[in-house]
Amino acid sequence: MRILGIETSCDETAVALVTDGRLVAERLATQIDVHALFGGVVPEIASREHLRVLPRLFDELMAETGLRAGDLDAIAVARGPGLLGSLLVGVSFAKGLSLSTGVPLVGVNHLWAHLLAPGLVEELLFPALGLLVSGGHTHTYLVRSPVEFELLGRTLDDAAGEAFDKVAKLLNIAYPGGRFIDMLGAEGEPDTTLFPRPYVDNQSLDFSFSGLKTAVAKHIAAHPDLVLDELAGAKEVAGLSGPRRERLARVCASFNWSVAQTLKIKVERALARVGAVRSLIVAGGVAANSMVRETMAGVASAAGVRLTLPSPGLCTDNGAMIAYAGWLLTREGYSHSLDLEAVPRGHV
Ligand code: KG4
Ligand code: ZN
Repeated sequence: MRILGIETSCDETAVALVTDGRLVAERLATQIDVHALFGGVVPEIASREHLRVLPRLFDELMAETGLRAGDLDAIAVARGPGLLGSLLVGVSFAKGLSLSTGVPLVGVNHLWAHLLAPGLVEELLFPALGLLVSGGHTHTYLVRSPVEFELLGRTLDDAAGEAFDKVAKLLNIAYPGGRFIDMLGAEGEPDTTLFPRPYVDNQSLDFSFSGLKTAVAKHIAAHPDLVLDELAGAKEVAGLSGPRRERLARVCASFNWSVAQTLKIKVERALARVGAVRSLIVAGGVAANSMVRETMAGVASAAGVRLTLPSPGLCTDNGAMIAYAGWLLTREGYSHSLDLEAVPRGHV
């Protein structure tokens, strides 16, 4: 079965072809440089960029695979959650293709697709505990099968990735700054007393990262020399040196530690509640974070469950995960009519 995947939920435009559960080809265009100028994703610009780039990526994918749209068995598209205007570009494109070729359409939940993506490279073991940590979401799920997700916990305010990006912004590091906080933090030792592990002294499985962000903001306000003089992107961060780099590394390591420990506490709590699961799946952009990866490896081994972590490239938004989830859904007999709607928030 040949499945096309289309991803336009936020600031990456991506397409991929998955045949019988294996990735055959993919194309991805990131808009990061455009949005970095504004310090965050500007929804209207994101939609326009998707509209400009998506047809070209699709043509390139078809040219590389030697296929025509009519050769596909399903057209899978991320239907949400995400930015409505951006989702509509992908969903409308998918509908147009489906209408003109008769190939069935299948709408995919972007968050579930993140968690299923590692199935492209290894067998997924169900039931699983799923931790989805991205720029817009921090969710834990009991995943009974590729099509049965029970939401256990969610963020009450900022998502984990959002907290990373806001801390980066406070330091004058370009959007999305999570990967730079990760990189700098890896060079330093965390001070485990510097920042709190937010919203853990309760019985809740929910998350709240806004208090952590405030604690970091207070620390930076008290140490203004930590803030970089000019907005720093990859080149400028790489070029930092001396005591300032060391001090920044310690703050970033401490922040990485607080986030990773908070995730650990909540995941351990969720594991204790759901009873026996066979694996822990961690996905989404923040799953690329080295301290989160290391910490989750410890959680899984202590719990005696298999850890499934996508490679860093598969953690952030991509078309392969949509095509793969679309393949799983199609295999189970799911498809959508041309009434398929984009769903910006909530469960889809
Ligand atoms: O899953 P994703 O690509 O997009 C959404 O669906 O939101 O996640 C993007 C988020 C951003 O907040 C970005 O800063 C964060 O993931 N991120 C990281 C790392 N790489 C990406 N956060 C921490 N450490 C990283 N290495
Ligand atoms: Zn995502």
